[in-house]
Amino acid sequence: MWEIITNNELETIELGEKIAGRLNKGDILALSGDLGTGKTAFVKGIAKGFGINDYITSPTFTLVHSYKGTEFELHHFDVYRINDEEELFEIGFEEYLYEDDICVIEWADLIKNLIPNHSIWIYFERLEGGSDQRRITIKGLEEK
Ligand SMILES: Nc1ncnc2c1ncn2[C@@H]1O[C@H](COP(=O)(O)OP(=O)(O)OP(=O)(O)O)[C@@H](O)[C@H]1O
Ligand SMILES: [Mg+2]
Repeated sequence: MWEIITNNELETIELGEKIAGRLNKGDILALSGDLGTGKTAFVKGIAKGFGINDYITSPTFTLVHSYKGTEFELHHFDVYRINDEEELFEIGFEEYLYEDDICVIEWADLIKNLIPNHSIWIYFERLEGGSDQRRITIKGLEEK
């Protein structure tokens, strides 16, 4: 487990880009943290790292957005608004997880029992004092 402090949104995007370079096909990133702590910013960096130029927005209502990168396909989930896990089964959530693509799930802690054990967990926290700093803790990926 390791942690990084980012000072602004750009640094969080850059962290995502750096982590993207260390992912292998089939990896699952489970993101957890309060509203506005930088989960989507981080996903923007992942997408950038994969050579995806689309504008990344949270798939809050559709649950998933998929993007084709140069090497990997990226599936970006946001499960903040799900009322029932049944909604995930309807879109074939489990099939996405076992494809050889990369899955990133915002608010993964809300569906903890559906997240495979081998997933990489990333926790986002605001530091006290009202600054833009965020503490980002990564579990399940070696520091390098
Ligand atoms: N260090 C930082 N890292 C990331 N974002 C930051 C940072 N400092 C300030 N911000 C701001 O915080 C907000 C983060 O928004 P973002 O949509 O990435 O959060 P989120 O965790 O995905 O929220 P939600 O749970 O609503 O999906 C942006 O407005 C961004 O400009
Ligand atoms: Mg978000």
